[in-house]
Amino acid sequence: MSLDIVGVSHRYGHADLALDSVDLRVEPGEFLTLLGPSGCGKTTLLRIVGGFIAPTEGTVRLAGDDLTSVPPNRRPVNMVFQRPLLFPHLDVFGNVAFGLRRVGLGRDELARRVYEALELVRLPGYQRRRSHELSGGQMQRVALARALLLRPRVLLLDEPLSALDLKVRLEMEAELRRMHRDTRATFVYVTHDQREALALSDRVAVFDGGRLAEVATPAELYRRPRSVFAARFVGDTNVLPVDVLERNGSVATVAMNGWRGGATCDVDDVGSHRRGWLVVRPEAIRAVPMPADGRADGLRAAVHDVAFRGSSYSYRLAVDGMDTELKVEAPATDRHPCPVGSTVSLSWDPADGRVLARE
Ligand SMILES: Nc1ncnc2c1ncn2[C@@H]1O[C@H](COP(=O)(O)OP(=O)(O)OP(=O)(O)O)[C@@H](O)[C@H]1O
Ligand SMILES: [Mg+2]
Repeated sequence: MSLDIVGVSHRYGHADLALDSVDLRVEPGEFLTLLGPSGCGKTTLLRIVGGFIAPTEGTVRLAGDDLTSVPPNRRPVNMVFQRPLLFPHLDVFGNVAFGLRRVGLGRDELARRVYEALELVRLPGYQRRRSHELSGGQMQRVALARALLLRPRVLLLDEPLSALDLKVRLEMEAELRRMHRDTRATFVYVTHDQREALALSDRVAVFDGGRLAEVATPAELYRRPRSVFAARFVGDTNVLPVDVLERNGSVATVAMNGWRGGATCDVDDVGSHRRGWLVVRPEAIRAVPMPADGRADGLRAAVHDVAFRGSSYSYRLAVDGMDTELKVEAPATDRHPCPVGSTVSLSWDPADGRVLARE
């Protein structure tokens, strides 16, 4: 089912806006992730879609129907909460089966589906445990099993893996992708972990302080971010202050400290003779030792630090005119790395440099 969030704003009491005019469409069967730092409004938006709080302004539509006056239990939507609530008087079986009791399945069918769901979240054999006998991560998995069992058309997941260790988390990510493929339900997933967002989603919506910064596929977001906020939040990156000398369609020439080079941009985003930010990923940059005569076309930088990472060398470099260090991730071949204290020349393919507007 498609989900439309139209002009949604929310204010708790007299506080600042927790959500500011959010417009977002989730396609039927899509896996969409809301990504952003703590406090940016992710849980608030999920609660509004689930019907647990009413937005101060705006509407939510499901398959075109306005949901404003539909209570949570009447929406074909299920939510896995950030802090899962389990019934303390019920064991794991009872908690998972809870929502299904009303559906009126036979006992055998009910038990079959509960065991299936417990297998899915890797908790077979836990059906008789009480909630106080579970770890935080196990509780999250019980809550996930309970939500999946109801086979909702739209599943809202609020950081369901946050209490799990990395190994289980990676396994559960694979399970979630499979559950999504199998159920074909629309998933709206919340996380502040950019790695998880990129790994799981069809599209990612990046939030910055209650506002939607941008929505894109993981690859687009990584390779061609449209905002400095998203570029910095997703993956490791370098953001350099540059002057845009010239722009021809989506190709720009930018300059910094006597160096000039090519970059790409979205038309209309940046104009000629303006200031811009150049965004380049660490792995897109090549570093070569500065020739003895000091003449090179690349951007001049001094090596501050180098660390061996197995498959690569991580460099930290200083560039004149930049407050922050530049990061370069170079494949570890048998070449000797550029030593600390040496001067290097940096270059990259213009297609890997994105120039964004700077006010
Ligand atoms: N019940 C509430 N009453 C007042 N303010 C609230 C309430 N719930 C959340 N807020 C505030 O609204 C803003 C958004 O909160 P929200 O829980 O949506 O953030 P979040 O993006 O889910 O963060 P996190 O990643 O930490 O879970 C925050 O500034 C938060 O302090
Ligand atoms: Mg939250």
